[in-house]
Amino acid sequence: MQIEQRHEPLLPTALDLGPQASLRDADYRFSGTARLRHQAEVESNARSYPRRIPLELRRAEGIHVQDSEGRWFIDCLAGAGTLALGHNHPAVLQAIRGLLDGKRPLHTLDLMTEAKDDFINELFASLPAEFARDARIQFCGPAGTDAVEAALKLVRTATGRSQMLAFHGAYHGMTQGALSLMGSLGPKQYLDGMISGVQMLPFPYSYRCPFGLGGAEGERVGLHYIENQLNDPESGVLLAAGMILETVQGEGGVIAPSADWLRGIRRITREAGVPLILDEVQCGIGRTGKLFAFEHAGITPDVLVLSKAIGGSLPLAVVVYHKDLDSWQPGAHAGTFRGNQMAMAAGAATLKIVREERLDLHAAAMGERLAGHFLSLQARYPQIGEVRGRGLMLGVEMVDPQGPRDGLGHAPHNRALASAIQQQCLRRGLILEVGGRHSSVLRFLPPLIITAEQVDQVADIFAAALGAAVLEQGARPSVARNDVR
Ligand SMILES: Cc1ncc(COP(=O)(O)O)c(C=O)c1O
Repeated sequence: MQIEQRHEPLLPTALDLGPQASLRDADYRFSGTARLRHQAEVESNARSYPRRIPLELRRAEGIHVQDSEGRWFIDCLAGAGTLALGHNHPAVLQAIRGLLDGKRPLHTLDLMTEAKDDFINELFASLPAEFARDARIQFCGPAGTDAVEAALKLVRTATGRSQMLAFHGAYHGMTQGALSLMGSLGPKQYLDGMISGVQMLPFPYSYRCPFGLGGAEGERVGLHYIENQLNDPESGVLLAAGMILETVQGEGGVIAPSADWLRGIRRITREAGVPLILDEVQCGIGRTGKLFAFEHAGITPDVLVLSKAIGGSLPLAVVVYHKDLDSWQPGAHAGTFRGNQMAMAAGAATLKIVREERLDLHAAAMGERLAGHFLSLQARYPQIGEVRGRGLMLGVEMVDPQGPRDGLGHAPHNRALASAIQQQCLRRGLILEVGGRHSSVLRFLPPLIITAEQVDQVADIFAAALGAAVLEQGARPSVARNDVR
């Protein structure tokens, strides 16, 4: 890839030393600025990221962000996978400036503009032709969760049914319908009025296989169970309006089903007449090594939910679906902020670059390189249970090797170690997130423009942080001391 050659250097010279300085300064403590203290005072108790990443951000460029104390960090959270081109990519800035300088309308409800038409054309050009040919698009309120709500309404209206099928470990957003489809119990445990008739099905999480089998056998049994459920007239479950799943689960712990499993799901839903909704809010737009993750399996969905990267770092969310499902009445999914012109311009610029510069292939190569580093660490650290994911959507599940093994012979989740590694990474200049069951999975979602050198730097920091966290926890590492910086 020629990313570095094609654009002006993304980083000012002074920045080059930033992450290095952070590497040397592993004892840095995040003391908290006045603004961080203000945030803790006034912002709701539901605030989440700042608890684990207590930074006041000041500048951002490429894969780096700088805090108010002048430290530079590599951003492997990247707006939870939003920033495909990293922060403030020149093409994105130029697209936004073009709108501003041209005095274009910034707010348009769902009225037509040049920016909107360009965005639609760019998105449809990125989609597989067989899907784009008969597709319709609905612009939603600017959050993934609103697009999920739209998808639910769409299939319920089209089929006249109300039940939904969703999966263990799923994350689809925080509004009531999306929450009802969520695997994680935390955010919905105090809420009444989840949509009724949601059936949760086993997702192929091989390492913690719900059937105690794992691998291809676990997936085969899971598909058999789902097919039986949809076809058994005595299953007790009414035929669903739709099935929704993330083609690669993100928040659930970075779980990528095999292409065979996805093809099996496509066959079963098609035969049962149940529309298949793929939520690619997080895994879409090149991140997994293909423009859309479903392309790994050579399938097409009936409904595709997109957000995050499609807005080129600004809020945008859409549903793209087969025209046969379009039995909506006018205004069936309205919303004031469906015409975010800056997001459409930034999104079109992002899609164009990802497609034309083959950042999907770059993500595949960089993901393989990063996963390779993690796999070599796993050979030395029994605390790494599994390294998994696809492209630049990677997860490292931490376990307690001293704990009791499960039926598959795997050690238990190690939330404390995952959290300690996250903090050690932060001290060394690397931002990443934890997720998955019991928050035991370290998650890597770097911008797709990350270079091989930067991948190696991420891996170096991670190795140092892992070594330090393991020592901090008092565990005996089967590892050379010089991993610990
Ligand atoms: C797969 C998936 N779907 C939906 C959503 C919800 O998107 P938003 O947070 O923009 O509402 C997310 C957010 O992380 C997601 O990862």
